[in-house]
Amino acid sequence: MEANNHILYTKKSFSENETIAKSEEHLDYMNNRRTVRKFSNKEIPIQVLENIIMAASTAPSGAHKQPWSFCLVTHKDIKHQIRIAAEQEEYKSYNNRMSKEWLEDLAFIGTNWEKPFLEIAPALIVVFKQTYEIKNNQKKTNYYVSESIGIACGFLLEAIHYCGLVALTHTPSPMNFLTQILNRPINEKPYLLIPVGYPAENTLVPNLVRKSKNEVIIKY
Ligand SMILES: Cc1cc2nc3c(=O)[nH]c(=O)nc-3n(C[C@H](O)[C@H](O)[C@H](O)COP(=O)(O)O)c2cc1C
Repeated sequence: MEANNHILYTKKSFSENETIAKSEEHLDYMNNRRTVRKFSNKEIPIQVLENIIMAASTAPSGAHKQPWSFCLVTHKDIKHQIRIAAEQEEYKSYNNRMSKEWLEDLAFIGTNWEKPFLEIAPALIVVFKQTYEIKNNQKKTNYYVSESIGIACGFLLEAIHYCGLVALTHTPSPMNFLTQILNRPINEKPYLLIPVGYPAENTLVPNLVRKSKNEVIIKY
């Protein structure tokens, strides 16, 4: 099949030195991103929240199916419902669902079943993956759904960081309660729950070490 709807694409490029400088600057900037678990309740302008979500939605996706929906929750009562339901699941997880190894692996972060940030953060972005598409009442296949939505969430976290905001990539498992509270259709499954906002004053984060270049990159 021949594609006949292509358009010219132009992109600004840089000299080699400029490219090196940009890559270093970007690495530093990305290295400064941290997951935050204590938020201020300072509001975020709605257009900022819309823009970061639309930046996420520029992500590549299998056959350009864009298999995602981003629910933007700022309503106090809905945030409260999500907190209560998430804490119920997390209580069970921390008390009897997580293995000893898992709890030991999480110990350095200092998390527990309590999730006050789900109400304090000004916005929750609940990402749903569309396991298939429903078009004109017909079921249509989506391709590489997990890969596509993972990339879109990466774009989202990058956009949040770029705007000087912080996020928590949260997975209060199982997350089916989000389908019910947000009344999502049958083809959508909750993927991530991401509180977004400004960090609370004097927020601490774990003093973690990221893998070194030698550990990450295998050259051939
Ligand atoms: C898929 C995924 C799920 C996560 N789930 C949780 C979570 O439920 N609760 C939490 O506090 N952090 C969660 N995190 C955040 C990680 O703990 C955090 O990214 C990691 O410790 C590295 O810290 P950094 O993001 O500051 O680099 C999750 C991260 C990912 C990618």
